Amino acid sequence: MSKVFVPPIKCQGIKTKLVPWILEHAGLREEGRWIEPFMGSGVVGFNVCPQNALFADKNPHLINFYRAIQSGEITRAKAKAFLDAEGEKLSKDGQARFNAVRERFNRTGSPWDFLFLNRSCFNGIIRFNSRGGFNTPYGHKPERFAQAYVTKITNQIDYVAKATKTNHWKFVCADFREVIGQATRADLIYCDPPYLGRHVDYFNSWSEEDERDLAGLLTSTKARFILSTWHSNEYRHNPSLGKWWDGFATLTREHFYHVGAKEKNRNPMLEALVMNFEPAQTEVRSAESELAEQLVLMEKPVKYSVTKKTKPRLATR
Ligand SMILES: C[S@@+](CC[C@H](N)C(=O)[O-])C[C@H]1O[C@@H](n2cnc3c(N)ncnc32)[C@H](O)[C@@H]1O
Repeated sequence: MSKVFVPPIKCQGIKTKLVPWILEHAGLREEGRWIEPFMGSGVVGFNVCPQNALFADKNPHLINFYRAIQSGEITRAKAKAFLDAEGEKLSKDGQARFNAVRERFNRTGSPWDFLFLNRSCFNGIIRFNSRGGFNTPYGHKPERFAQAYVTKITNQIDYVAKATKTNHWKFVCADFREVIGQATRADLIYCDPPYLGRHVDYFNSWSEEDERDLAGLLTSTKARFILSTWHSNEYRHNPSLGKWWDGFATLTREHFYHVGAKEKNRNPMLEALVMNFEPAQTEVRSAESELAEQLVLMEKPVKYSVTKKTKPRLATR
């Protein structure tokens, strides 16, 4: 693939860097639907760009935002006007303006304010307190909404707007248990749930019980599925892989997370894709293909990648 589309909303755990790898295995049948029960930013499905899709998430603000684009409430032109106006106030009043918009968002749930906060808060983190209030702090960039940045965001909005017009996409606020049950044999389910034991907030928590339910649903689905999860880091292995996903085809790949800009803060992590069908190809990735991908993403990416292939537990069909 030549270029990864980056969506207008950011979130923690966003899979932008892993999109080319996931897409190698995400071929859809003509009559099949793309079902994404943990859509987050939507970066994976938006790059698949299927004709038929069900995008879902438990966080209503993500869903409201994408529905507002789909309905034409949020357009490129209106977003430019909104971000220009709010950007000017931010540049004048900084923290005070950010706090005022955050307080307004927590009263009204406006998708416009969600966009503003997501793009001006600390690191694009979506975090809600125990009362469901957005509580990520200010990113301390008063000049955040400079023209180039506004243009970038409005182009991203326009891409989604066009895709929702030419395709049949549905955005639903629901728990994954409701969504996976709707899949049929022709569909492909892509799951990227929160990682167990990471952080917990109002819309984004994950327990052993959730993992067990997800494994139960995916093990018995007639659809094909791909699950993103972590395999191991320098300290430990993901215990869920052996407990719930043993016997499914598992691909792994090294990925670095950056905490700050310093080289010493690069944290290696082996990411995994678990699937109930034969992977599209055996991943023997050359240094050139890694380099090509680095150039596409223009970020510091993987050092090397590994494939571990086990005999897949195939979907019953
Ligand atoms: C790791 S993020 C997904 C990131 C996404 N793949 C991306 O690249 O942007 C996990 C998402 O799952 C959602 N979520 C958490 N618990 C859920 C549940 N029980 N049912 C549905 N969605 C849930 C969160 O709101 C969050 O958006």
